[in-house]
Amino acid sequence: MNFKIFAFLALAFFLAAVNPSLGKETNASRLRRGLPPLPPRSLFRNKGAIGWTASATTSSRPSSTPRPRFSSRSGRIQVLASNGSSLGFVGNSTPVISINFGGDPGQDLRIQIVSESAPFNIIVTNPNFPTPFYLGALASSNLSLEKLTTVALSNVDRARSKSRATASEKGFVQSAIWSIDLNTQELKARYVNPDGTKSPLFVVYNAHYNELHFVGNVDSDNLANPGFPGSAVKLYLSED
Ligand SMILES: *[C@@H]1O[C@H](CO)[C@@H](O)[C@H](O)[C@H]1NC(C)=O
Ligand SMILES: *[C@@H]1O[C@H](CO)[C@@H](O)[C@H](O)[C@H]1NC(C)=O
Ligand SMILES: *[C@@H]1O[C@H](CO)[C@@H](O)[C@H](O)[C@H]1NC(C)=O
Repeated sequence: MNFKIFAFLALAFFLAAVNPSLGKETNASRLRRGLPPLPPRSLFRNKGAIGWTASATTSSRPSSTPRPRFSSRSGRIQVLASNGSSLGFVGNSTPVISINFGGDPGQDLRIQIVSESAPFNIIVTNPNFPTPFYLGALASSNLSLEKLTTVALSNVDRARSKSRATASEKGFVQSAIWSIDLNTQELKARYVNPDGTKSPLFVVYNAHYNELHFVGNVDSDNLANPGFPGSAVKLYLSED
């Protein structure tokens, strides 16, 4: 072999070995060198509403543009009746997601928004129940929302896909269903039908069962539960 080429390759290999920045940098290698870990890659892209279209702008943003720092949003979920009065906070209990009437904030569900753009996942950070810990939609079948009378608001596995329901032990789940209106802090959800169309999920509170669940249509829910009709409510992130 030509000695010059060999020497060059040997030098390049040596430099790559001693300088980790030429290879894949990890938090561990940074920490060994006394550097802080890399910042989280998740970033909110704008200060306005995180809408369904936010992710569409992701790839068009030049990578050299500095992005605003991700401020992870966390807190509790407040439930407001349609007349605007607070019914309380979502409690730390499953399988039924209910309102905590005990008055002890320690029994409230604490959540964190774990992604940068809608539709995002919400994870429960203080579960007093076994896994799974994502808060999402749980349907009994993979039909369209129109055909499903109700869809549970439940602790679910992180769904593999954002574009269709994932079959799980408990049923068909969608976890990346959420968006937030940063002006009002309202948490909104939507369902992806098998044909790819999206339908808003409305939250209903059934006081008889102390149960929160999703519906595609509040009237159809009440037809299904004539004895104990539910009422439309809204969910708001109450930040720490
Ligand atoms: C380094 O750690 C931060 C959290 O401290 C994490 O968000 C980031 O993704 C990590 N980077 C790598 C390359 O693992
Ligand atoms: C608002 O609605 C809730 C639930 O439906 C009800 O309990 C409450 O009395 C109402 N408050 C007012 C001021 O109408
Ligand atoms: C719906 O679920 C059934 C099994 O329960 C499966 O055979 C079918 O392919 C699923 N359809 C879609 C659109 O995922």
